[in-house]
Amino acid sequence: MTTEAVGVVRATEAVGVMRSKESKIASIQGHIDRAIDDLLASLRNPAHLSAEERRGIIARYTAVLEGNFIYWMTGAYIAVKSDAARAKIMDNLREEVRDCHPGMMRRFAIAAEAIPTDADARAIHRNLMNVRLFIGRLSAVPIVVTMAFFEGFIQRFMSYLADLAQRQGSAEMEYTDVHGVCDVTHTQELFRALEAETALAPPLPEREMFEGVELLRTLIQSIVVNTNVQ
Ligand SMILES: [Fe+2]
Repeated sequence: MTTEAVGVVRATEAVGVMRSKESKIASIQGHIDRAIDDLLASLRNPAHLSAEERRGIIARYTAVLEGNFIYWMTGAYIAVKSDAARAKIMDNLREEVRDCHPGMMRRFAIAAEAIPTDADARAIHRNLMNVRLFIGRLSAVPIVVTMAFFEGFIQRFMSYLADLAQRQGSAEMEYTDVHGVCDVTHTQELFRALEAETALAPPLPEREMFEGVELLRTLIQSIVVNTNVQ
């Protein structure tokens, strides 16, 4: 083979590797989007819920988000190895702490008269523990995939959560306003961070890649439907 031909083969191989990386990320993104679509499709119409059912959803959501989002994002920060992923996750943590998102969450719950009770905490306990233990394994790619799913779900869930709170007589919407903004750049950065992490890690079987997504999806199901009482 001539030197020129070798050059062409190498360039073609490089394009092939790039394309396969892109399609890998696109397929992860597709899996996450489908998981979010399924969850949203399973939500019950707020107009058909009782006041106690609406209160329960807000309370269980608060019980999970208030004390765990920053904790899990910190787990992701500890686990990742690439500068791109660290920078992206640090931006997120900085915003959470600087703007006191747990405080925003609590104000939202107080205004909707949905402060989590012992029963709310018990209803999510087992599924919450499963996600905590998964995060504790500090496995970089599965954690970043899980947090991408979590952020994507939260953003698309906000209009539903705001609707529940309004029906409970609340006008305090800072939490849902701040988190319901569809930030395309933010999502793209997150998937670039994921690309950087997958490049550093050995390929994972699908079950491991989406293990955290499945555990978190089960936890969210126990938020939106109190699976403990059904
Ligand atoms: Fe937040």
